[in-house]
Amino acid sequence: MDKRSNYEEVFKRLDALCKGETDHIALMATICCELFHSFEYFDWVGFYRNINGEELKIGPYQGTHGCLVIPFSNGVCGKCATEKKILNVSDVSKIPYHIACSSTTRSEIVVPIVSGNELIAVLDIDSNTLAAFDEVDEEYLCQVNKYFR
Ligand code: SME
Repeated sequence: MDKRSNYEEVFKRLDALCKGETDHIALMATICCELFHSFEYFDWVGFYRNINGEELKIGPYQGTHGCLVIPFSNGVCGKCATEKKILNVSDVSKIPYHIACSSTTRSEIVVPIVSGNELIAVLDIDSNTLAAFDEVDEEYLCQVNKYFR
């Protein structure tokens, strides 16, 4: 199955699973699970939640353990939280502020999850493959936002 069709299927399942759900943790857990198990090149999928506008704290995730707290001033996740824009890093070794939670990670994509003007969390996906994410991933992963509106 090509990537686009795979995303279409994933979102169909998520639409059904998440229908009527407003609890953020329940939504995050379900989204992580579906994404992690649907793409071979997704090696870590998780949410970091905005705690106080200064720090992100780990939320539901799939994969090996991630760091528990990330300040807005550090990491790709912190930059995404600060700028509220998607970051697609094709080679994490080129990014000095990248926080390495796993030595096998080669590329990473981070998507801001917002409701109105408010940052709820960031969705972080790591891959052990270099330059794993493209504009199709960017387009679809941004759609995760619809469950938090
Ligand atoms: N790499 C992230 C930290 C989180 S872990 O990848 C799970 C960052 O630079 O913010």
